[in-house]
Amino acid sequence: MSGLKALSVVSEIYPLIKTGGLADVAGALPGALASHEVEMRTVVPGYPSVMAALDEHETVVELAELWGGRARVLAARAKGLDLFVVDAPHLYARPGNPYHAPDGTDWQDNPYRFAALCWVAAQIGLGSVPAFVPQVVHLHDWQTGLTAAHLTYDGRRRPGIVITIHNLAFQGQYPSSMLQGLGLPWYSFGMDGVEYYGNIGFLKAGLQFADRITTVSPTYAHEILSPECGMGMEGLLKARSSVLSGILNGIDDTVWNPATDPLLPVHYSAAEPLGRLAAKAALRKRFLLDDKAQGPIFGVVSRLSDQKGLDMVLEALDTILAVDGQFVLLGSGDKELTAGFHRAASVHPGRIGCVIGYDEALAHLIQAGSDALLVPSRFEPCGLTQLCALRYGAVPIVTRVGGLADTIIDANEMAIDAGVGTGLVVAPTTTEALEESILRAARLYADVPTWQKIVRAAMKCDVSWTRSAGRYAKLYRDLVKERTP
Ligand code: ADP
Ligand code: GLC
Repeated sequence: MSGLKALSVVSEIYPLIKTGGLADVAGALPGALASHEVEMRTVVPGYPSVMAALDEHETVVELAELWGGRARVLAARAKGLDLFVVDAPHLYARPGNPYHAPDGTDWQDNPYRFAALCWVAAQIGLGSVPAFVPQVVHLHDWQTGLTAAHLTYDGRRRPGIVITIHNLAFQGQYPSSMLQGLGLPWYSFGMDGVEYYGNIGFLKAGLQFADRITTVSPTYAHEILSPECGMGMEGLLKARSSVLSGILNGIDDTVWNPATDPLLPVHYSAAEPLGRLAAKAALRKRFLLDDKAQGPIFGVVSRLSDQKGLDMVLEALDTILAVDGQFVLLGSGDKELTAGFHRAASVHPGRIGCVIGYDEALAHLIQAGSDALLVPSRFEPCGLTQLCALRYGAVPIVTRVGGLADTIIDANEMAIDAGVGTGLVVAPTTTEALEESILRAARLYADVPTWQKIVRAAMKCDVSWTRSAGRYAKLYRDLVKERTP
């Protein structure tokens, strides 16, 4: 098998910059693909944290003008990743996260910041760095969608294009008056181009021009063809369904490994699970929870947004208290949810704790020290926290949507007997069903051998990238073969 060169294009990448699972996937995939003889390099914006992390680097492209300032493209290595970094301080050298200022408001020039990323990525895709001419360009989410338009409109022979939808809720739509400013030709503004309901659609462009569309679970690939989940894109997705498929995410099992995790007080494994008790004690200490509660500790690690269904958790807190359980939350986002969880923690000290913010180390401790992890999403393209929970032995309690449905097997009686039940599946997506699942979890938890059986089954699951990296590699190879004259 000969090596295949693939260029990944993304707006965030772990461990350099992360707001969610997108960064985890972008960071883990290149390493996982290496064993399938795919050489992947990733184009990312030169945010301050990216620039600060670069080891060796060299300038491979100089640009006198890129959306209002000078820029360079650096070929670089950082934290084991092979990158092309778009060093354009006027666009990316800012505090805050990739999309927002520190006060939470979107950067006004986001369309131009990501248009610049797309334009540079397309140039590399078309061969502007002779040392690395990709056969496949793999785009992720709306921020990178225009790359597909540039690659196609250029007219030269282009690499194969794959776009992965990590979340259809974000589509990158901007007024048609920006067409020229975004570097797009006049003729691109049509239904078969970048036009989307009278606007310019970044994601639309990606979906229109890609040779393959993937999303991050088979169930989400199916769900997004319906008006309920397609968020307006269902028509286009249906028209392109012959090239649409779902490939499940994995997690980086070197970062998420309780047997070696430097962020845990004591290491443990499925065979030697006692270390979970030390993690539980540390978790209680961290959240100032008492150690008298007899019920399970329910944990949450999440963005606080409507997608994640945490308003239902807020409503179900009384049920957790009624089973003598405890609750810990780490998250950031929505102001109302933040206020709600703060209020609950102040009314029930010792039983409910919350930390608002982003804290990698605490996320690991919650996975190791909680008995169950709540993920009651309204929709979930894949979800990674339930995979981390499986690996760390926190029994996932999830709604039956998207990747949650594809990764968790409900611990009903038959599944428990067969030793394959790995979590609790909540259906339908309602507070009442969530409350019932909390009651069921508490009953199962009280039956120690049964609970241990579920924890063991969870920890035995293969949540690594092994299987899915093979699927991406095959997708790339098929595409290259199909495009070879
Ligand atoms: P999404 O990408 O929709 O937010 P995922 O479950 O795919 O959801 O990925 C979320 C990732 O972000 C996981 O790696 C999770 O551990 C991490 N995460 C989410 N919120 C926080 C937080 N407040 N602090 C630390 N890590 C977080
Ligand atoms: C998105 C989705 C999440 C998925 C992640 C990585 O943020 O919300 O479900 O796991 O992308 O693909």
